[in-house]
Amino acid sequence: MERVNRLINDEEYIRLSDRIKQAEQNRKFCRHGLSHSLDVARICYILNLEENLGIKKDVIYACALVHDLGRACEYESGESHHEAGSRIAAGLLQRAGFDEEEMSLMSEAVSMHKEISDAAANKLAVILCRADKLSRMCFDCEACEECYWKEEKKNKGVLL
Ligand SMILES: [Fe+2]
Ligand SMILES: [Fe+2]
Repeated sequence: MERVNRLINDEEYIRLSDRIKQAEQNRKFCRHGLSHSLDVARICYILNLEENLGIKKDVIYACALVHDLGRACEYESGESHHEAGSRIAAGLLQRAGFDEEEMSLMSEAVSMHKEISDAAANKLAVILCRADKLSRMCFDCEACEECYWKEEKKNKGVLL
């Protein structure tokens, strides 16, 4: 997991994470910090194993760890965090040591994590999107009633 640890120790990664932490300090809805990203990474990895997708572990973890970094821009300029995140991810992933092919899969996955068809060709993007939703514990959330998620999308129990 050398590349993953290089990523989370990157100065820009730390700066962006801090900006998100600051912006979400008083947020009552789901937050988008390191613990959310690691939940997503681990669920993604479970899906990868259960569905025999054969995606490299560090590619999955790195992708999950950058997927919401664009929130830093979204809170400040209103730009969608999917697009901003995909752009930001490129430099970070390159410095961490990922190759062109891996980076393009990961950047695309970040840009598509809002909504994606299960039949999409980029399987990393498919499991990232699913894991992102599965990671949320709506059943234990005090803001559940006010949340914008559609009632049928809220997780009513542990699914994975
Ligand atoms: Fe997101
Ligand atoms: Fe997320």
